[in-house]
Amino acid sequence: MTMEIEILSIAGSKPLGRIQLNEDATVKNVKDKIYQNIKKSLYPDRQAIKLELKGKALKDEDSLKSLSIENGSKLYLQDLGPQVSWKNVFLAEYAGPLFVYLWVYQRPWILYGETTSSPGTVTTVAAVCWSIHYAKRILETLFVHRFSHGTMPLRNLFKNCTYYWLFALYIAYHVNHPLYTAPCNMCLYVGVAGFTVCELGNLSIHILLKNLRPPGTKVRRIPVPNGNPFTTLFNYVSCPNYTYEFGSWLFFTIMTKCAPAGIFAIVGMYQMSLWALGKHRNYKKEFPDYPKGRKAILPFIL
Ligand SMILES: NC(=O)c1ccc[n+]([C@@H]2O[C@H](COP(=O)([O-])OP(=O)(O)OC[C@H]3O[C@@H](n4cnc5c(N)ncnc54)[C@H](OP(=O)(O)O)[C@@H]3O)[C@@H](O)[C@H]2O)c1
Repeated sequence: MTMEIEILSIAGSKPLGRIQLNEDATVKNVKDKIYQNIKKSLYPDRQAIKLELKGKALKDEDSLKSLSIENGSKLYLQDLGPQVSWKNVFLAEYAGPLFVYLWVYQRPWILYGETTSSPGTVTTVAAVCWSIHYAKRILETLFVHRFSHGTMPLRNLFKNCTYYWLFALYIAYHVNHPLYTAPCNMCLYVGVAGFTVCELGNLSIHILLKNLRPPGTKVRRIPVPNGNPFTTLFNYVSCPNYTYEFGSWLFFTIMTKCAPAGIFAIVGMYQMSLWALGKHRNYKKEFPDYPKGRKAILPFIL
C-alpha cells in the first residue's frame, strides 16, 4: 500500500510538496523522493528530516512504520547546506600540517631570513615524529576508519583546516627556529619513547574500532580490549584513542620543550574531552549493559 506524506520546510513551516512512498519505506527513501520530486538541489546527504520543528534529525535507516508515520503525516525538511565528504575533509586537514611543517623545517628565508645553520637533533627528530603522526592519520583515513556519516558541512572544512594548518605553522616556526634551544637528552629520550607508545596505542584503538563495524554498515558495538595490550585502556575509558592522542602531544612537548606544542596539546585535550564526554553519555544511553567503571577520556578522573 502507498501512503502520501506532506513535506514542510523547517524555515517558516512552508509546505514544499507531497511525496508517495510504500508503507515499508525508510527515512532514506524519503530523502531520495524529496531529491527526485521536490528539490533537485537538495541531494540526500544535504537533508535532515525531523518529526517536529525542533526535533532531532531522524536516522536514514529508521522505517516510517517504526516512527508511527502514516498516510497524511507531515515531516519537516532542513537544508544542512553544501556537504563535503569526511574523507576529503580529513585528508585536507592532515595533509596541510604535514606540508607546512616540512616546509618550515627547510628554514625558508621568508620566515627566518638568510640562515646557514642546520637543524639540530631534536629539531630533526621532532620533524620525523610530526610527519609520522600526520602520515599515519592520512593512511588511517584512507584504509582504517569506517565512518558512519558520508559527509559533513562544507564550512567545517575551513574551520578544521584553519585550526590544524595554523597550529602546524605556529609550532613548526618555534621548533625550527635557528635560535631554538633544545632541552636535555633525557627529555628527548622520554619524549620519543612516550610519543611512540601513544602513536601505537592510538593506531591499535583505531584498528579495534574498525573491526567492531562490518564493512559497509553503520553498526556500533561496545568496544572491549582484544589481545593487544594497548587496547587494555578500554577497561578504563570510553575513548582511549583520544587519551593516546593527548599523550602523543604531551610527549612531543616534553621532547621539544616548545610552549606552542603544549598549547596545542591542551586545546586538543579540551576539545577531545568534550567529544569524549558526549560519546561516553551516548554509550551509556545506547547500551544498558555498558561497563560501569569506565570514564570518558582520563582513567579514574574524567
Ligand atoms: N589533536 C586533535 O585535536 C584531534 C581531535 C580529534 C581527533 N583527533 C584524531 O583523529 C582520530 C579520529 O577522530 P574521531 O573523532 O573520528 O574518532 P572516533 O569518533 O573515536 O571514531 C573513529 C572511528 O571509529 C568509529 N567508531 C567509534 N566508535 C565506534 C563503535 N562503538 N562501534 C563502531 N565504530 C565506532 C567511528 O565511526 P563514526 O563515523 O560512526 O563515528 C570512526 O570511523 C582520533 O582518534 C585522534 O587520533 C585529533
